[in-house]
Amino acid sequence: MCKDPPVEGSASCGAPSRVGEMFDRISPTYDLLNRLLSLGRDRAWRRRTAELLGQGKGLRVADLATGTGDLLIALLQRCPPIAEAVGLDVSERMLGVFRRKLHRNGLADRVKLVQADASATPFPERAFDAVTMAFGIRNTSDVGATLGEIHRILKPGGIVLILEFSLPKNRALRWCHLKYLRLGVPFIGAVVSGDRHAYRYLDESIEAFYPPSDFCALMREAGFAEVSAAPLSWGVASIYRGMKQPA
Ligand SMILES: C[S@@+](CC[C@H](N)C(=O)[O-])C[C@H]1O[C@@H](n2cnc3c(N)ncnc32)[C@H](O)[C@@H]1O
Repeated sequence: MCKDPPVEGSASCGAPSRVGEMFDRISPTYDLLNRLLSLGRDRAWRRRTAELLGQGKGLRVADLATGTGDLLIALLQRCPPIAEAVGLDVSERMLGVFRRKLHRNGLADRVKLVQADASATPFPERAFDAVTMAFGIRNTSDVGATLGEIHRILKPGGIVLILEFSLPKNRALRWCHLKYLRLGVPFIGAVVSGDRHAYRYLDESIEAFYPPSDFCALMREAGFAEVSAAPLSWGVASIYRGMKQPA
């Protein structure tokens, strides 16, 4: 969901501070609109992503662009062996919603929240066994730099899982989905959040983002091995997985 028009050629959006301001504005209705606009599928997509993490013991996990935290909560609920969980986001208000959710779920002492840019995190090299990012990389101003940063903070042998919107390959489905993104999403978004702009740019940023094969190529360029993409719900979203080569 980008306020700034996607930067031509970069398939991503504008300056982190402006994107953060937009997410600050829509934070009160963000979760509700996720449920409505995805017809409830977003939760299943995050659960599926969490299942791919595996069951290693004492895992250290960072969730970038964590927002209101639904992926990190799904990870904590599905993968009890997580020893250290960090959620990072540029938007203070999205993190505020997440903080309140953690308190309600009795998870406040299990997650550290950090306000920072995903392409330049404050974490040391090789800090995490897994890095996750749901619907966030499309919003960063430099996708390559963000992938490079993820690679830097992962331990050798560590896993990256990225959940992001994509477009169905089937032409008829793609046509219907584009109609929904261009007309339905901004309308429903405007009615519920009062911010038509944000939900118009949700469509624009999805349409401008890399197709799965190109994004996999970018992941390989950033140094990841065993890169794969798995389509969800006929391809309206995809889970990308990669591994940092063991030393
Ligand atoms: C569509 S929301 C996704 C939130 C959450 N991961 C989820 O699954 O619902 C995108 C999030 O990315 C954050 N974001 C955008 N650009 C960012 C950046 N450069 N660094 C860190 N977070 C960023 C926004 O503030 C927002 O919370």
